[in-house]
Amino acid sequence: MRTVASQLAAGATAAVAGTVTSVNPADLADTVAEVQLTDAAGFVAATRAARAAQPGWAAVPAPVRGQVIASIGRIVEANKAALAALVTREVGKPFAEALGEVQEIVDTCDFFLGEGRRLYGETVPSEMPDKQLFTFRVPVGVAAVITAGNFPVAVPSWYLVPALLCGNAVVWKPAEYAAASAQAMYDLFAAAGLPDGVLQIVHADGPATFGGLEQALGQRLVDKVGFTGSSAVGERIGELCGRHLQSPCLELGGKNPMVITPAADLALAVEGALFSGFGTAGQRCTSLGTVIVHDDVHDAFVDALTGAVAAARIGDPREDVLYGPLLAPRFAERYEQYLTWVGDHHAVRGATGRIGADNPRDGFVGDPGKGLFYHPVVVDNVRPDDRLFLEETFGPIIGVTRYGDLAEAIELANLPGYGLSSSIYTTDPTEAFRFRAGVGAGMVSVNNSTSGAEAHLPFGGNGRSGNGSRQSGRWVLDQFTRWQAMNWDYSGRLQKAQMDTAAIEPDMSFRLPG
Ligand code: UN1
Repeated sequence: MRTVASQLAAGATAAVAGTVTSVNPADLADTVAEVQLTDAAGFVAATRAARAAQPGWAAVPAPVRGQVIASIGRIVEANKAALAALVTREVGKPFAEALGEVQEIVDTCDFFLGEGRRLYGETVPSEMPDKQLFTFRVPVGVAAVITAGNFPVAVPSWYLVPALLCGNAVVWKPAEYAAASAQAMYDLFAAAGLPDGVLQIVHADGPATFGGLEQALGQRLVDKVGFTGSSAVGERIGELCGRHLQSPCLELGGKNPMVITPAADLALAVEGALFSGFGTAGQRCTSLGTVIVHDDVHDAFVDALTGAVAAARIGDPREDVLYGPLLAPRFAERYEQYLTWVGDHHAVRGATGRIGADNPRDGFVGDPGKGLFYHPVVVDNVRPDDRLFLEETFGPIIGVTRYGDLAEAIELANLPGYGLSSSIYTTDPTEAFRFRAGVGAGMVSVNNSTSGAEAHLPFGGNGRSGNGSRQSGRWVLDQFTRWQAMNWDYSGRLQKAQMDTAAIEPDMSFRLPG
């Protein structure tokens, strides 16, 4: 077991206000780290140090910053197996998925290393002679980034990599239950040669983080907040930032629908629903919430899906399994609450709840008694006014409901008011494009899982899933830079816009003969 502490710039201090342990959820006897938490003042101290370090970093030419991002990518790649093994141990993500998660950091670095040689601004013609207009991308300054632990390294990299490339300093508050993975990520980034204070980690609980953020915003020490987590906390962060006239980058929950039409390849749809719903134990923000299946194929689909769910390998995440444990004890407690939402009008086949000697699962890989392992649950006959239909249920549970025509399916898909990811299975292009146009989600899959977005498309949601901000690819540059417009008049006289502009008069009476 190791001790993990906040990593502040030289000279900045974060008092230890308490400790928590980060525990392996597949083996609760295995403590991964003891985490020293700081208080609101520690958070503020980090942002102050970031404020001091940022101008020096912004002055490093962007292509050189790009080189540092390239180095991060190569160092992470060289440590891929070790980092993935730590992610598996700390949050129980199957090793193959953890390798994919680390690859997502490498992909993000590969994308942004070249952006160091672009960060294009524009030259724009002026309405005056001897005058030139320009646009420049300017770093926002200090970014405070608060992340969840279901993607303990990939999702943070979506913030950290572009923020640093653009010349910002970052204070990162990772999830306490994924603190060792965060420390490893910090060590890999630091090895690339980031100057002191440009990236700092603060470990703190929710109230200390919120209090620290409130003070830091009040003292104008933070210019951009990035938050990945629940919609409820996102609303509070959005409110707080709004009071300081800031627009945060919010990546919140989802109730991601999957529509199965009569034209679907059912075997493919079953495979997609299985992975979307139960991969990562249903603990992605992009995990499947409700399958909305056409009346004509409902029974065949549900039979095939429940068969596939029963046959899936679940257990020790170091092995080849569909999913391992829930992330941490508090996620297990919350998941047990969601199970109480299953009512009499629902149809559930097979066992539910925690897997153990008294509630076994055929083919379980390993010893279920050691960790937070739960049965996969498919709840059929879900109705639009059920909590199970309307609210995010982070964990291995999906709902199934029916529809008659596509307009109804789209209405059901939008009803919960989230809008992160969505999916349709169909071989009919008309259905696919009608769904795309009608669904309110930021991301739409056709014949693919609701999860598994690639690292260079805009990632983000609408409604209860976010405030319209987008991460990844070139779109995230608008989160971590601001446009600065410059005009330069070299005419030697004051030329007044809109007033001193030349005009070429048209002959408005001109008409073609005939
Ligand atoms: C998340 O759960 O917060 O698209 C992000 C996906 C992953 C990222 C999920 N690439 O499923």
